[in-house]
Amino acid sequence: MKAVIFDLDGVITDTAKYHFIAWKKLAASIGIQFDETFNEQLKGISRMDSLQRILKLGNRLNDFTIEEKEKLAEQKNNEYVKLIAAITPQDLLPGIASFLKELKDSKIKIGLASASKNGPSILERLQIASYFDTIVDPGQLKKGKPDPEIFRAAAIQLKIIPNECAGIEDALAGIQSINGAGMFSVGVGVPLEAQPDWRVKSTGDLTLGELKMHFRQKNL
Ligand code: BG6
Ligand code: MG
Repeated sequence: MKAVIFDLDGVITDTAKYHFIAWKKLAASIGIQFDETFNEQLKGISRMDSLQRILKLGNRLNDFTIEEKEKLAEQKNNEYVKLIAAITPQDLLPGIASFLKELKDSKIKIGLASASKNGPSILERLQIASYFDTIVDPGQLKKGKPDPEIFRAAAIQLKIIPNECAGIEDALAGIQSINGAGMFSVGVGVPLEAQPDWRVKSTGDLTLGELKMHFRQKNL
């Protein structure tokens, strides 16, 4: 295992809850309600694709022009940006700081494969940007998760072949993306239907020793 590629929201920090709050507010403003079960479907999905799914849920897919949809997505992002303004290093999920340090000390490359355009600014706020050897720009991708493109792009940027990489995700679409890329997948609190190579309940369970052991078992 030569690289570990991280999802951001819900893996490194609990911003998944802020995406949920911001989307719920935006949806309510156009008369659409949704719950946490539906929200699972939005995890890992790009801003515009998330909006499309919400509009479909409310049977309002054809009620807005492209410009209006862009406005709605922007409104959601403005709300989200307000919510993340107060993020500090205290908001790292359990175990992530020590896990990043273990990887760095072992000279294992670290990548970010997040669909979020706010990713780099969140890493800065968490004061962990310097750990990352590469960050995929989601604006350059043709397809979002569950397509493998984003995890493949991270491996290409790191110049490491996919089967020497592990990917870590909290969303079904993310696990599908890692598996499709031919990497070892780690699922943090992922839904039952997801099929990660290693399933953990919390980021606190992530240690380099455990990860290497599971990685080796798969590659025997
Ligand atoms: C993913 C989140 O990481 O990024 C999604 O899981 C979010 O919920 C997506 O919609 C896009 O994020 P942003 O910050 O570019 O709107
Ligand atoms: Mg996520």
